[in-house]
This record gives sequence, C-alpha cells and structure tokens, in this order.
Amino acid sequence: MIIKPKVRGFVCVTAHPTGCSAHIQQQIDYVKAKGPIKPGPKKVLVIGASTGFGLSSRITAAFGSGASTVGIFYERPSEEGRPATPGWYNTIAFTKAAKAAGLYAANLNGDAFSDDIKKQALEIIARDLGQVDLVVYSLASPRRVHPKTGAVHKSTLQPIGAPYTNKTVDTDKGLVTEITIQPADETGIADTTAVMGGEDWEMWMQALLDAKLLAPGATAISYTYIGPIHTWPIYRDGTIGRAKLDLERACHAIDAKLKTAVGGRALISVNKALVTQASSAIPVVPLYISILYKVMKATGTHEGCIEQIQRLFSTQLYASTQPKLDSEGRVRVDDWEMRPEIQTAISEIWPKVTTENLPQLTDIAGYRTEFLKMFGFGLPGIDYEAEVEPHQTML
Ligand code: NAI
Repeated sequence: MIIKPKVRGFVCVTAHPTGCSAHIQQQIDYVKAKGPIKPGPKKVLVIGASTGFGLSSRITAAFGSGASTVGIFYERPSEEGRPATPGWYNTIAFTKAAKAAGLYAANLNGDAFSDDIKKQALEIIARDLGQVDLVVYSLASPRRVHPKTGAVHKSTLQPIGAPYTNKTVDTDKGLVTEITIQPADETGIADTTAVMGGEDWEMWMQALLDAKLLAPGATAISYTYIGPIHTWPIYRDGTIGRAKLDLERACHAIDAKLKTAVGGRALISVNKALVTQASSAIPVVPLYISILYKVMKATGTHEGCIEQIQRLFSTQLYASTQPKLDSEGRVRVDDWEMRPEIQTAISEIWPKVTTENLPQLTDIAGYRTEFLKMFGFGLPGIDYEAEVEPHQTML
C-alpha cells in the first residue's frame, strides 16, 4: 500500500510505519548524542507512552539511562490494508530498538483509566521488574469511563465564566479567523476534571503502593502547561486549567504518600507548548505555537518533545542538584518559552497576523512539518512513493 497523509481538520487519519520508525530513531539518536543520564531511572512505567511527551519520556529513560520500560497507551492497531494510529507504529519501532539494545520493554494497549489495565500492568511489573523507580503519567484523553461509577466523562476545551473570542488558525487550510467559544457549565468543568485531573493518577499510584511495586525513593511525575496571557482564557483559566489544578492537588497528595511509604517524591513539570495530537485540538493554541516556534527558532531556543524531556531528566529530575522548583513547587521546562523577550516578541506579532501574512509572520510551515512528522510523514530518507505494509503486529 502507498500511504499518503490524509488530514481532516486537526487530525491525520493515516500514518506511515517506516516514517514513524524513522521519527523514533531520530529521538533515540538525540538522547544517545546527549550522553548518559546518571543516576537515571532504571525501571520505568510510562502511562501514555506512545506519542508526545510520554513517548519522549520512555525514549529518554531507555536510551539515556538504560531503563527497562513498561508502556501503556490506547492506539488503534493496524489491520490488513488499513494503517494504525501512529502511536502503534511508534511503539513497535521503540520496542524493536530497545530490544536490539538489550533493554526490556513491555507494552499494554488499552484503557489506562480502567481497573483491568491497571491490574495487568501491576502483574507485568511484579513478574518482570519487581518494582519501578519512576512512574510517568502523561495521558491526554478526550474521555474517561470512571472505573467505579461507570459514568462517561468527556473533557472540553472551554473558557469559564464568559465567552472567549480570539484569533485562531485552521492549520490545514492556513486560514486565520476569529473564534468565539462559549463558557462551560459546572458539569463541563467537573467532567474535564474527571478526565484530565489527578484522580486517575492517584489511583495508579495507590495501586502501585498497595502492591508494594514502588522502589525506595521512587519518583512520580506528570506534565502540565500554563502558557502566556494570549491563551489563558482557553487554557490556564479554562476547563483544562481547572483539571490541571486538580492534577497539582493530586501531586501534593501523592508526594506525601510516597515520602512516607518509600521515601519517594511526586512532581509536576510545566512543559513548553508543542505540536502534539493533544495540543492541535485546542482552539487558538496552534496559532500561538506557530508564532512561538518562529520566535524561539530565531533565538536558537526552540525545543521539541525529546529535547524538553531529555533536559527535564538530565538537569532537573536526575541531576546532582535538587530540582529547581517554582513558588508552587513545580519544575519548569517552559522557562525558555516564558522568557520576557520571547513573550514580548509574540505579543507584538499576535495582533498583526492575518491569513495573508501567516507564512511570513509565523512558522506555520514548521507547525505543519511537525504535525505531519507525528504521523510519520516528511521524514528524510523515506520513499513515500514506495509500497509499504500497513499491517504491523506488536512485538
Ligand atoms: P499526546 O496526545 O501526544 O499523548 C497522549 C498519550 O496518552 C498517548 O500515548 C495515548 O495513547 C495515551 N492515551 C490517551 N488516552 C488513553 C487511555 N484512555 N488509556 C491509555 N492511554 C491513553 O499528548 P501530549 O501532548 O504528549 O500530552 C501529554 C501530557 O502533557 C498531558 O497531560 C498534556 O496536558 C501535557 N502537556 C502537553 C503540552 C503540549 O503542548 N502538547 C504542553 C505541556 C503539557
């Protein structure tokens, strides 16, 4: 089958197996070139391991410090004549590379919110690893079936209190328009918190603690975003921001438990805004990211997921000094994004952007390149006119 990108709004419904594999290799090469992370994690559970920050965390742990990894994700497998979602191919490529390097890698494809997947994950850890010393919680999901009540919670990306109007871009068509998003009601806020808040992270950590599967000094980490004033109404002060506040609440609760039980710690890292499947679904944010990339590339400070996570592990989580925390106790690898000179430059560009000048004033081209790369397209050295077998089975 010859696989080409088929972009529908903010998703691409096809993915290229060889391209995804090349994308994984690029990330592995980056981590290896940076050198070993000492003393890095050795036995790692990554929840949300197949794309974005979770995937980069898994690659950094494995190839930066030789970690054994268990990866949990929710991807559509390939079928005869039908490509999988990219996380499926990413995981196959990661697993092949890890095994070739003599590293243990186990995978579980299913709903991380469910009791069943937690049980299976615990069994794998108990059987193969004994304990884990790092748990990365990096889920981004539109819905959660609550394991105790059976209720289906759907997360929304809405402001709170008042409608929000701002510029947005259709990244596929290159159209800059104004969008007005209606505020969420209390149910919308509660549902988003149920999906993207901290309850499920707490359930995972409690299950691991109860089963005595956390090693002495174990670390738990999850990721959040704060961002600049341009996106506050839709992000920090919106439904997703409320959910992230709950994630921070959970972090403090988990931290206290881990300290007492195993002398461990729980942390939240505030990461940079990046093109991922999760962020491309948020209105306004892709326009912000397009401008951000332009400004950060011009100043030589641009990073992708792998650069962010490699820096997080090597300079914060596993450095010889304690992590540098902000006033709320969070690690900040969004520090370069939030530099005043970067934000001032973005604020100057923001009001001027139109459909006509989008290619000049923003890095929309870079956004699109990154977007397609997530699906395995546009990688150097891949012949996209060649036949490729879409049906690939998990190792
Ligand atoms: P992503 O969409 O690339 O990755 C999400 C991962 O979660 C995938 O591995 C997917 O398979 C998995 N997943 C989703 N639902 C699942 C389920 N029910 N069961 C098992 N696995 C499931 O997302 P991204 O952007 O890497 O986000 C990860 C975290 O980083 C989120 O908490 C997000 O808020 C945060 N973050 C993202 C930023 C961005 O700009 N993309 C910036 C800062 C933080």
